[in-house]
Amino acid sequence: MKKHIYFPAALFLSHLSFSPAYAFPPSADFTTEKKEASSQSTAQEKEILSDIGKACSSEKGAAIAEQFYANLLKDKTDTFTGKFNYASQQGGVQAGRLAMAIGKCFKTFYEEGSYNALTLQLQHIASRHAQLNIQAEEYLSIGDAFIKTLKDHGVLTNDTEIKVVENAYTELAEILKGLEEKIYDRAKNTENAWTGEKLLTLSNKETCGDYVTWTLKPADEGPLTVPPPGSSITLMDKVEISGRTILQMRPYTPYITKGDLRITVKNIGLFSEHLFKANEGTTIKAFSPVGTYEDQFPNPESGEAILLTAGSGITEAFSIIPSLEKQGIKTFFIHTTQNQDNDLSQTINSTSLLEKYVFYTQSNQTNDSSENISFGRIKEDKLKNILQDIHWKESRFFICGPKGFTEQMTKYLKNLYTDSQIITQGR
Ligand code: HEM
Repeated sequence: MKKHIYFPAALFLSHLSFSPAYAFPPSADFTTEKKEASSQSTAQEKEILSDIGKACSSEKGAAIAEQFYANLLKDKTDTFTGKFNYASQQGGVQAGRLAMAIGKCFKTFYEEGSYNALTLQLQHIASRHAQLNIQAEEYLSIGDAFIKTLKDHGVLTNDTEIKVVENAYTELAEILKGLEEKIYDRAKNTENAWTGEKLLTLSNKETCGDYVTWTLKPADEGPLTVPPPGSSITLMDKVEISGRTILQMRPYTPYITKGDLRITVKNIGLFSEHLFKANEGTTIKAFSPVGTYEDQFPNPESGEAILLTAGSGITEAFSIIPSLEKQGIKTFFIHTTQNQDNDLSQTINSTSLLEKYVFYTQSNQTNDSSENISFGRIKEDKLKNILQDIHWKESRFFICGPKGFTEQMTKYLKNLYTDSQIITQGR
């Protein structure tokens, strides 16, 4: 595709309606540039994009999305295919995501907006792309597959329509590539970061209930990377799916404990099950860690950090607690898990800077005599009680866990203080 940048993506991008299960926080050098909606778009251009958007979200939409993936993955390399979640594709969920996301931009193009309104969604997409090491040149393949699919389905019928879509897509791609470049540039500063893939050895297997903790060691015995707090590391390996061996990749939250680089994985989902069953000494490819939460930490003088985690979301706490501690930030760590057997928080102790609370949802027993253990799900009144003395305005809330949990906690916090500064990550 040729690059033409005159179409105002700002006009049609303002109401992306996909909801990120995973949202990296905005940060100082990770923001979408504000651009004014240009008046150059003609009624014809708007109409074309509106029609495409409608087609993508109509009954035809599922067929378009499916064929888009077929077109995209047809002649691609293994690595390219591996970036897409095969298990989701089988259920059609994955197929619905990307083409529909682009289509949705088009559908709502006529609603006046600004890049400002879109910042979070685009940052979220760029963060997800960075985890998967999406490269700028791959935007061409996506754009080509998208346009080819629309042509195949008779949605694009002439050169004018094709040109309008090319331009609109190009502008969107340029924004995302810019955001991704910033993430990659920043990740390069991580100690002992690497480019491309690197082989890591899975060592020191430790299991706790449904969880496995692996120590990751560079297979070449080179220096260890020190991941920034709140970053993710994407691992990849070939996995058996319905009799086929397919390369898959998945991001995890890396953290350092006792000088070792670790990840903790719940035995759920194709790739995580693969890691759960793996034997010590297995080597696995990885991309260097990307992303960080550090910019989102509160000022230790005036605010607190509140970590609300559930299940494997606890790895986020493992990742950021040491940095919070180092910066002298008062922290409330509130973890929800099924029972004591699955309770990974047992490795974190309360200190003068850290208050720890645990909720067991499927048990009413514990050997732990700590008074900060509760049974049942965390409720709003309990949360209010724990957080009664914090500086709501200046504090930062980090929520990590399954979607239902992050949504519920967000709701409670917003009820307690409308302007709560919340950073969520789904699991
Ligand atoms: C304008 C272009 C693009 C748009 C609007 C877009 C949008 C999105 C969205 C909304 C998601 C879902 C994020 C989430 O909630 O997890 C996503 C995920 C993804 N995108 Fe893109 N994307 C674009 C370009 C690309 C390109 C060039 C690639 C290269 C291969 C790519 C590969 C992926 C992959 C692999 C995922 C993750 C899918 C999964 O979870 O299995 N995207 N993208």
